[in-house]
Amino acid sequence: MVDVLEKAGEEGLALTFDDVLLVPAYSDVVPANVDLNTNLTSDISLKIPLISADMDTVSGADMARAMALQGGIGFLWKSSLEEQVFAVEDVKNTLNRKIDKPISVGSNKTKRDVLKILERYQNRFSSLVVVDEDRRVVGLVTGDKTRFAKDESLVRDFMVEDVIVSGEDTSVLGAYNLMKKSMVPKLILTDSEGRLAGMYCFGDVKSIIEGDRNLYNVDARGQLRVGANIGVNDLERAERLLRKGCDVLLIGTAHGYSKNVIETVKAVRDNFKGKYDFGLVAGNVATYEGARALFEAGADAVKVGIGPGSICTTRVVAGAGVPQMTAIYEVVRAAKEFGRYVIADGGIRYSGDIVKAMGAGASCVMMGSVFAGAEEAPGESMKVGGQKFKSYRGMGSQGAMKDNLSSLERYSQKTGKMVPEGVEGMVPYKGKVCEIIFQYLGGLRSGMGYVGAKNILELQKAKFNRVTNAGQVEARPHDVEIIKKSSNYK
Ligand code: XMP
Repeated sequence: MVDVLEKAGEEGLALTFDDVLLVPAYSDVVPANVDLNTNLTSDISLKIPLISADMDTVSGADMARAMALQGGIGFLWKSSLEEQVFAVEDVKNTLNRKIDKPISVGSNKTKRDVLKILERYQNRFSSLVVVDEDRRVVGLVTGDKTRFAKDESLVRDFMVEDVIVSGEDTSVLGAYNLMKKSMVPKLILTDSEGRLAGMYCFGDVKSIIEGDRNLYNVDARGQLRVGANIGVNDLERAERLLRKGCDVLLIGTAHGYSKNVIETVKAVRDNFKGKYDFGLVAGNVATYEGARALFEAGADAVKVGIGPGSICTTRVVAGAGVPQMTAIYEVVRAAKEFGRYVIADGGIRYSGDIVKAMGAGASCVMMGSVFAGAEEAPGESMKVGGQKFKSYRGMGSQGAMKDNLSSLERYSQKTGKMVPEGVEGMVPYKGKVCEIIFQYLGGLRSGMGYVGAKNILELQKAKFNRVTNAGQVEARPHDVEIIKKSSNYK
C-alpha cells in the first residue's frame, strides 16, 4: 500500500523520490538471496529489473548486448532504419556469434584493395579471410601483416597461410576450445569443399562461454533479448525489426497521451500481434488517464516519466510534467486494472531511487545517465581535468534534434529553429555495464532487505513515509568532510 502517495494525490500534491522514504519493516530476508526476476510484459520476463534508455548516447548494439548479458534489456534508440535493423541483428546473433558471411578478399588483390574494403566497414575490424577464385580459403590477412606490406603488394605475398580452419557446423563451445588450444584469435569455418562458410572471433566466443549463462536474458530460441524505439507511424520499421527477431517495440515520444502514439499502438497491435511474437511498450505518460488510453489501445506495458530525467528541461520549458513518484503511482493504478506492467523512466540517481520506484509498483526501471558513462555506451569519451567522461545528451537537446530526425519527431518539432527540451552534457566514465549494475543491484537488494521483500511482487507492496526538508538533509551524509570517494555516492 502506498497510502502516502494516494493521500498526496487527493490533495493535488505530487511527490518525487526525495520526498518519500520506504518504511523499514520486519524482515527475515537476506539481501543476497532476494529474487530480482520481474516482468516487462506478461510474456517477457527480465532477470534484473533494469533497462538502458533509448537514447543516442546510451543504447546502441553494444549496450543492448551488455544489458541482456546481465539479465536486463536495452532499448535501441531510433537511429536510421538500416542501422537499427543491423543493431537488432547484431544483438540477436550474440550467442551464436558465428559470423555467417565473413568479409573476404581475393588472394590476387593488393594491400590497397584490402584497405579499401576495411574502410568500407569503417575499420571496425582488421582481418580479412583470403579466398581463391572458387572461394576456397587460402589464408588470412591480419592488421599487422597489412601494416608492414607495401601498397602494391599482392595479398598472397603477405597473408598468413598457416590458418586454423574447422567445419561449418562447429559449435560456439567447440570453437572456444579449439581457439584456446591453438591460441588463435580467429577460427575460419569451411564447407566440405574448403569454401568459406563462417568465422568465429575469440573475444566474442570467450564472453559467451566464460559468462554466467544463467544470467542472460534470452528469448525462447536462446537468443539475447532486445527492444527498440520505433517512434510513431512507422509500420515499415516495425516489421523490419520484428522480422529480425526484435523482442519489444517501443512506441515512445515525449508525450505518449497523444493521438499519434495511441493510433500507432493500435496499428502495430492490429498489424503484427499474432504474426510476430513481441512485446508492445508505449510512452511516456505521467497520469492515470494517459496510461489507461495506452493500455486500451493495446500496450503491454507503459513507460512513465514526463520531465524527471537528468538531461530534461521539459518541466521548465513547457511548465508541464509530474514529479516521478506520483507519476509512477498513478500509472500503476491504471496498470493494475488491466493486469499489465509499468516501466519507471528517468530521474534515477541512486540505487535507493530504484527501490522507491518499484516500491510504488513499477516492475522495472529505465536509466539514461546511469548507463551513459559505461564503456559500452556510444557517447564520445573525453578527458577533463585528468578525469575521464562520456558525453550524454537529451534526445530533445539542440544537438540531438539537429543530428537525428527521430529526435525532432519525438519532441514534435520541425527542422530549422528548434525549442530544445533537453541539455547536452557529460557524465563520469564508470567502467563496464556489469560493474555499474553490480552497485545498483546491491542497493536494490539491500532496500528489499529493509522492507522485508523476498521478491519484486512483495517490494511492490511497500509502505512510504513523506519526508520533510529536515528529513532530506538528515538522509545525506552531514557534518563530515568526505575525504574518500564512494563507489555508490556522489
Ligand atoms: P535519466 O535521468 O535516467 O533520464 O538520465 C533518462 C530519460 O529521460 C528522458 N529524456 C528526455 N526528457 N528531454 C526530456 O524532457 C530530453 O531531451 C530527453 N531525453 C531523454 C527519456 O525518457 C529517458 O529515458
